[in-house]
Amino acid sequence: MKKTIVLYYTKTGNNQFVAKKLAKEIQADLELIETKTKSFFSLILLSWFKKGAKIIPLDIDLTTYDRVILLGPIWMGNLISPLRGFVKRYGKDIKDFVFITVCGGGDEDKDSKYGFENVFNEMRKLYPSPSITCYEISTKGVGGESSSAAAGGGSSAECTCTGSSSGCTRGDSSPECTCSETSSGTTSVGSPTDLPLLTEELFHGDVKDRFDEVVEALKK
Ligand SMILES: Cc1cc2nc3c(=O)[nH]c(=O)nc-3n(C[C@H](O)[C@H](O)[C@H](O)COP(=O)(O)O)c2cc1C
Repeated sequence: MKKTIVLYYTKTGNNQFVAKKLAKEIQADLELIETKTKSFFSLILLSWFKKGAKIIPLDIDLTTYDRVILLGPIWMGNLISPLRGFVKRYGKDIKDFVFITVCGGGDEDKDSKYGFENVFNEMRKLYPSPSITCYEISTKGVGGESSSAAAGGGSSAECTCTGSSSGCTRGDSSPECTCSETSSGTTSVGSPTDLPLLTEELFHGDVKDRFDEVVEALKK
């Protein structure tokens, strides 16, 4: 069996949730990637400008592994700076590289500005070797319809303010604000507060099926 390590970066826990399950399923080691800066704003800005974030050095030697599996989210259609920083620093030590993103956008959004294909292409540019395989596990639809605005279109909210306040936004609980969900078909990232968080209770249906497919492929 291939000696494998699963490394992950997470902001809100989804990639950690999947990384832990995956490591257990394929009997791999598991390690968290941490950045020196903890500022989300800085990490987003770095991602936007295609810069890598500085990574806290790993205690392990990746050259001792046959395969490295890296997990992380997508932010605003970008390959995120913690993952870019990781591959820049440790890519040379990786023999067989698998990248998995647990992201908000689904298959129908994959080629949009916020879709995962863009990010896969960025990763392939950064690690230009035939031994890279990319998979997505989408959280779209997890926890019901209201969660499906995670990225790349789907539903959005029309909000109308009937009172004196200057305007209301989605999730505004004031009685003067009325929001209704509409199907937009446009590409919007959606409010981060709408994004589904994976839990044992919510881990079924499409997301679990996709996870099982990826596990099967990795076991081959
Ligand atoms: C600021 C922000 C921007 C996001 N942009 C995208 C995006 O462009 N495309 C996408 O598929 N998901 C997007 N997402 C959704 C995350 O990739 C998704 O929720 C992911 O599972 C979060 O992973 P984590 O919980 O491990 O941090 C975004 C999330 C945040 C917070």
